[in-house]
Amino acid sequence: MLPSTQLKKGGTWRPQLFKDIMVMSKSRSRSQMKRPRWIIALVCILCVFLITAYFYPSESSTTCYLFSSPNCDGIFGRAPPSPARELTDDETASSVVVREILNTPPLQSKNPKIAFMFLTPGTLPFEELWENFFQGHEDKFSVYVHASKQKPIHVSRYFVDRDIHSEQVVWGKFSMVEAEKRLLANALLDPDNQHFVLLSDSCIPLHSFDYVYNYLMYTNVSFIDCFVDPGPHGTGRYAEQMMPEVEKHEFRKGSQWFTMKRQHALVMMADSLYYTKFKLHCRPNMDGRNCYSDEHYLPTFFRMKDPAGLANWSVTFVDWSEGKWHPRAFRTQDVTYDLLRNITSIADSTHVTSDATKTVLRTPCLWNGMKRPCFLFARKFYPETLGKLIHLFSNYTKV
Ligand SMILES: *[C@@H]1O[C@H](CO)[C@@H](O)[C@H](O)[C@H]1NC(C)=O
Ligand SMILES: *[C@@H]1O[C@H](CO)[C@@H](O)[C@H](O)[C@H]1NC(C)=O
Ligand SMILES: *[C@@H]1O[C@H](CO)[C@@H](O)[C@H](O)[C@H]1NC(C)=O
Ligand SMILES: *[C@@H]1O[C@H](CO)[C@@H](O)[C@H](O)[C@H]1NC(C)=O
Repeated sequence: MLPSTQLKKGGTWRPQLFKDIMVMSKSRSRSQMKRPRWIIALVCILCVFLITAYFYPSESSTTCYLFSSPNCDGIFGRAPPSPARELTDDETASSVVVREILNTPPLQSKNPKIAFMFLTPGTLPFEELWENFFQGHEDKFSVYVHASKQKPIHVSRYFVDRDIHSEQVVWGKFSMVEAEKRLLANALLDPDNQHFVLLSDSCIPLHSFDYVYNYLMYTNVSFIDCFVDPGPHGTGRYAEQMMPEVEKHEFRKGSQWFTMKRQHALVMMADSLYYTKFKLHCRPNMDGRNCYSDEHYLPTFFRMKDPAGLANWSVTFVDWSEGKWHPRAFRTQDVTYDLLRNITSIADSTHVTSDATKTVLRTPCLWNGMKRPCFLFARKFYPETLGKLIHLFSNYTKV
């Protein structure tokens, strides 16, 4: 017989289930008194099943564990479940607040909008292109600009007076995450904003406004990039000081260019525990090691708090195929109708690990379970490409 203490840990429904089975087997034993051994065997099998169900909580995660499906955590599979640990006071408080926000349906806005949040050093080179994109959809979006170096000169009416208070941002430092949070906080002030997109000065739109709007609004995930990179540019950046809240097997990597639903933006506002952990222990130049919070905080945090709410890929295309420190930047001669159509037709998200195996993880981009093009935006484009992009815009954004 199963000791009752083992059942207690399983949460409320499991003892109930166990009770039901006891009742079931009792009533059966009354009617089939002749075969007590069969009943004992049956109860034993059920006990084994319950223990298994307890340690491998859902069918899908068992499948992940057995087959290491890339939809879970890359080909490396799930880390073995760790023994339950007593939470710290801060963790308990955090999990209560996060759960409450995730369980509260977002306010229904009569006029749902997408917030386009631009993180830039100064003037945005592609305002004119974005103006083409926004034109005719005035009530469905809002723009926020965080200029970290110089006050931008705006050429598009959609960008005038949209600068928010800004602070200096240093590449790779935590000030990047602080700026992202500042943009989100300002955009959250408008209750109509239901989905939030982070963009840089070198980003361009790849589709028409309606396509982007429908893609982001009619799904309930955030497009936050998230994967396990066991190499030096992934888990190699983890610091033990993040314990106990963030264990090594929970550490994730992903591009900083996210889109986020309103609930997730609120969850980020509510978080100070994990935010502070990353601020203190994931920064460049820690004992000769570099960690970049903008590539780890959000993937790790949301993977822990709401894994099913993540798409696990970024809708912003970037070309790392040259294998350099910075991604490829496109020049005027590169920008052709073919290039843009090629990018917009990609329907698999690709991650490459930074360990010696350089494993390529490829997963189809599933939008509400259907295979769809992965990308809505692309970077990096040199300012010189503006004219060519404007010329091609109405053509390449035809779906
Ligand atoms: C993203 O990955 C998590 C596990 O890390 C998984 O639970 C979730 O279903 C994935 N999202 C999609 C859209 O596949
Ligand atoms: C577009 O994709 C095709 C097929 O993959 C390739 O042959 C071609 O070189 C690509 N063109 C550009 C401009 O990237
Ligand atoms: C979105 O959420 C609703 C309820 O919260 C759920 O029924 C539905 O399946 C979800 N849709 C997707 C695409 O995940
Ligand atoms: C637009 O696309 C069509 C079809 O590919 C092409 O024939 C045409 O030349 C393109 N127009 C421009 C301005 O590039």
